[in-house]
Amino acid sequence: MHNYFLPPRIECGDGAIQNLGEHVKAFDGKKPLLVTDAGIINAGIFAKAVEPLEATGLSHTTYSEIEPNPTDISVAQGAAVYTAEACDVVIAVGGGSVMDAAKAIRILASHTSPARLESSPTEGGLAPYYADIGGLERIRGDMPPLICVPTTAGTGSEVSQGAIITDTSLQTTDRWRKRAIVTPFNMAALALLDPGITVGMPPGLTAATGMDAITHGVEAYVATKYHPISEGVALQALKMLGKNIRTVYHHGEDIVARGEMLLAASMAAFAFQKGLGAVHSLAHQLSTDAPIPHGIANAILLPHVMEFNLPNAIEGYADIASALGIDTTGMSHGEAACAAIDEIRALNAELNMPAGLGEAGLDREKIPKLAADAMLDHCYKFNPRECRETDMLHLFEAAF
Ligand SMILES: [Fe+2]
Repeated sequence: MHNYFLPPRIECGDGAIQNLGEHVKAFDGKKPLLVTDAGIINAGIFAKAVEPLEATGLSHTTYSEIEPNPTDISVAQGAAVYTAEACDVVIAVGGGSVMDAAKAIRILASHTSPARLESSPTEGGLAPYYADIGGLERIRGDMPPLICVPTTAGTGSEVSQGAIITDTSLQTTDRWRKRAIVTPFNMAALALLDPGITVGMPPGLTAATGMDAITHGVEAYVATKYHPISEGVALQALKMLGKNIRTVYHHGEDIVARGEMLLAASMAAFAFQKGLGAVHSLAHQLSTDAPIPHGIANAILLPHVMEFNLPNAIEGYADIASALGIDTTGMSHGEAACAAIDEIRALNAELNMPAGLGEAGLDREKIPKLAADAMLDHCYKFNPRECRETDMLHLFEAAF
C-alpha cells in the first residue's frame, strides 16, 4: 500500500503577495501570527507581507526571533505568542528555517494547553512529535491554517511534510541534535510564490539555495521509495532548475526566471516525499558544526555522492543528464550518467561554490565525529547505494 499527499494550493506569479489579506480572510482568519526573522525584516521583505494585511484592515502579531537552525526554544516562544494574542492563522515569511519553525509553532499551539505553554513554554513541548519516536501518529489535522511565503527558491519547505528543529534537550556526540517532525499536515494550506519577493536575493544566496533545490531533485529521483508521481515531478523540476539557475545567478532581476526557480524549488521539495539521500545526511551535520550553509554543503557534496552512487543509479542519472539540458544523443547510460555529474561540477564552478568543504570552513579533525553523527540522520536510508559509517567518512574526506 502506498500513500501520496499533494500540497493543497500553490498560487504563483509576480505580485501574488498582494492577495495575502484576502487569503487570510478566506480562511476565516481575523488575526494572523506572522513568523519571520531579523534578516527578512532588515531586507525590507517583511514589509511587503504586512502591507496587504493592513490594506485589508486585518490586525496581526509578529514573532521574529527565529534563528538559523531554529530551536525548540524559539518555537515554544512563538507558540506562546500565538496563544497569548489569540491568533487564528500562521503566516511564515522567510526561508526554510522560518517555515520549519512556523510549522512547529502551529503544532505546539494546537496540541499543547495554553496553561502549559504559559507556565513552561520550553519544557519539552515538542518532544512527543518528533518523527524518530513515532510523532507522526500523534499529530492531528485540526490546526490553524498555514500560509507560507518563501523568500528564497531552494528549501521548498512550503510544500514539504518535514520541519527540522534543533532539540536543545538532546545531544549528538557533543552538540544539540537536529530532529524532524514529519506529517502531511505540515504542507502549507497555501504557498504564495511571488518572484517579486526573490528578485533582490544576492547572487551567493541565489546560487546556494538553487543548488539545494537541484540536490532535492537529484536525490529524490534516485531515492529508493516507490513514488512515480514524485519521479515525474523531480525530473520536470530539474528541467526548470537547469534552465534557469545560471540566469538568476547572473541576472537576478529576471522575473520570469525567478518565478520558474520558485515553482521548481517547490516541485523538487514535493518530490522528496520519495526520500532524499546521503548528501542530506552529510550536509545536515555541517550546518551547525562548520558552519556551512545548507545549500553550499549540498553543492559541494553532491558530485561526490553521485560518484559513490553511480553503480546503483546509472539509469536515473542518465535521465537527470537529459533533464539538466545535456544532449545525450548517442551516449550510453553510463556516459550520460557521468555527464550529469560533470554538469553539477560545471554548475558549481560557474556559481562560484567553494571547491571543497575545507575551503568552505570545515575543520578536518571534526570529520570522524560528523561521519558518526550522519548515521543518526534518516535521509541516507533512501540512498540508492547502502551507506555505512566508513562510507560517510570517505565521502566527507573526498569532498574536503
Ligand atoms: Fe535541502
